Amino acid sequence: MTDFPDGMVWLVGAGPGDPELLTRKAERLIAAASVVFYDALVGQGVLDLIPRGVRTVSVGKRAGRHSKDQATIDELIVRAALAGERVVRLKGGDPSIFGRAAEEIDACRAAGVPVAICPGITAAIAAAASLSRSLTLRGLARKLVFATAHYRAGKPIDLDWQALADPQTTLAIYMGKAAAAEVSLGLLSQGLPPDTPVAVIENVSLANEVVISTRLDLLPLAAQSCPGTGPAVLLIGTAIANPVATNLREDAAWCRFTEQPS
Ligand SMILES: C[S@@+](CC[C@H](N)C(=O)[O-])C[C@H]1O[C@@H](n2cnc3c(N)ncnc32)[C@H](O)[C@@H]1O
Repeated sequence: MTDFPDGMVWLVGAGPGDPELLTRKAERLIAAASVVFYDALVGQGVLDLIPRGVRTVSVGKRAGRHSKDQATIDELIVRAALAGERVVRLKGGDPSIFGRAAEEIDACRAAGVPVAICPGITAAIAAAASLSRSLTLRGLARKLVFATAHYRAGKPIDLDWQALADPQTTLAIYMGKAAAAEVSLGLLSQGLPPDTPVAVIENVSLANEVVISTRLDLLPLAAQSCPGTGPAVLLIGTAIANPVATNLREDAAWCRFTEQPS
């Protein structure tokens, strides 16, 4: 295969979990690999597409449960490529969104290993699709911000709340469920209205997906009531409620606590 010679690394986006959300290119690269290093967030349905003869290595990272540190992962993929393997580094969502892609690209380049990215559908985009919402709204939501609220016990979240608290911005907050109280407080303190629509979406695109629709001031309570331990993304902003209602507060279907997708 001309775009996947021996000794090359592809960083491949696996999407949010549903194998049908994988790109055709990703599926082709997975089938052509000799080894696949995969993260914990890669869906089982995607892993099932890896042909039997292909070696698989879990380098899974989940909050608080790092099985391999980043430097070790960098070394593993470089070493495999230098040994002549066709390496797929399979990552949840899109490799370039909070995916440590830069470190892996740098490690490959430093070792003279050819490396490329195959994009994937990132969690926030798939979450908006699950809600049947548009992340941008003409005249109302002109900006989309991807942010991480990765929470380290005892340390404040290093986000610029003033910059984020813009009523015309849709916020997609990754790794934010544990920090829901800080996110709510930070945005409210900078003037974002308490009734700003919020959705907490866990296990996006999977059979056990959970959607909680709420409002900014109730977000801490809503996040607590989200029982699962799966990955979750927070979507915050006007666009997350009914986009066509002229008066968004008339969207009576909004702001209920638990809603299973039909
Ligand atoms: C290390 S980041 C990786 C993001 C990934 N590269 C992407 O583009 O979606 C992990 C975070 O992504 C979000 N995430 C990834 N997959 C998800 C899913 N299926 N459902 C909900 N959130 C998800 C969660 O916020 C999770 O804590």
